[in-house]
Amino acid sequence: MRMYDLILKKKKGEELTTEEIRYMVSGFTDGTIPDYQMSAMTMAICFRGMSRKETVDLTLAMRDSGDVLDLTGIRGVKVDKHSTGGVGDKTSLALTPIVAALGVPVAKMSGRGLGHTGGTIDKLECFPGFTTGISEEMFLENVNRIGIAIAGQTANLAPADKKLYALRDVTGTVDQLSLIASSIMSKKLASGSDAIVLDVKTGNGAFMKKMEDAVALAEAMVSIGTMAGKKTYAVITDMDQPLGLAVGNSLEVMEALELLKGGGPEDFKQVVFALGSLMLMAAGRAADEAEAVSLMEGVIADGSALRKFAEFIEAQGGDPAYVYDVSLLPLAADTVPVIAEADGYVHRILAEEIGTACMALGGGRETKESAIDLSVGILLKKKNGDAVRAGETLAVIYGNDAAKEEAARRKILNAYQIGWEKREKGPVIHRYIR
Ligand code: URA
Repeated sequence: MRMYDLILKKKKGEELTTEEIRYMVSGFTDGTIPDYQMSAMTMAICFRGMSRKETVDLTLAMRDSGDVLDLTGIRGVKVDKHSTGGVGDKTSLALTPIVAALGVPVAKMSGRGLGHTGGTIDKLECFPGFTTGISEEMFLENVNRIGIAIAGQTANLAPADKKLYALRDVTGTVDQLSLIASSIMSKKLASGSDAIVLDVKTGNGAFMKKMEDAVALAEAMVSIGTMAGKKTYAVITDMDQPLGLAVGNSLEVMEALELLKGGGPEDFKQVVFALGSLMLMAAGRAADEAEAVSLMEGVIADGSALRKFAEFIEAQGGDPAYVYDVSLLPLAADTVPVIAEADGYVHRILAEEIGTACMALGGGRETKESAIDLSVGILLKKKNGDAVRAGETLAVIYGNDAAKEEAARRKILNAYQIGWEKREKGPVIHRYIR
């Protein structure tokens, strides 16, 4: 078999066989197929697409390129959750202790933020001493003992995807449905859970800007997961503005804790409850959404979800006092309001611009190695559909550097699209795919 022939085959729009896809993935992973040939292949895939069978084959070949975790030592149905990424998306922080408090084990691999989107690990590091660098034994032990553990992705989890994603990133081949679906699902399948719940974002701040593309991606991932023998559900959620009000690591932790204490913004709550319902149903803990919501409300109201979060932080080396007293969390010294220049209604908040404004403050990293300032961020005061008067505060910047704050202020002002016509608030939950 020669990679050259496979590239020509895909260039003509023909379907690759299972053996050809396995040959390509293993050769690329071990370095016998060079980057330039794989780049030509990914570009051919961008133009010609992949069939559902090819997409499943690619996913399974990438899953098998490294370790496939064995979670059979954990009692109960393990349900994993994944978001395609967004701005202000602190869902995992609130969702995982709620589900764990209801007896569903959470054994989760999470990542760091890159570019304009945040990552769960960075947020958790707002708790001094907290680490995701725990041994496999401790990971399994913690899930069995307290019901929850979160670790960083191991180096050998779907290494083919790691290499391929880096190549796609620099060759303009990220935004192809089969490549995205196989990239996400290869890692989820290698993580060893019994069921997978996917949060597929759509809107200006998402990978999938258009609803039909988000639905197609969700359907592809659900069918891959189902074919691989995992119960897989997806929900399409809105990213036409940041989720909730807080953007930035420490501010997002505070907002997640607010939800666990019974408050929190409505859109954030809706996303947590929608995903939580699917997780509880996938685990057989709730029969339907109504039962799931009532169970989740119960563990928030009686404080057990919050206590579960504190237990989890302590079990991974963090100080649980911060969970109960958020004033201990890091918060930047300066607050700068972003003032509206005209009357009207908020039509859109460009989420990506808000994410890059947070990055400009020092809250995000440009490369995987950059250090970040956990204390900076943006608190939105107006969301889509809200009425605004000139002179009112649209958002408040938390910063540590005047020049960066001014750059962020200009970006945030641009991100707010304000028009004359009254606009209804759009839905947060667009569609379920099961
Ligand atoms: N997230 C991934 O892990 N892979 C993609 O291709 C896109 C988003």
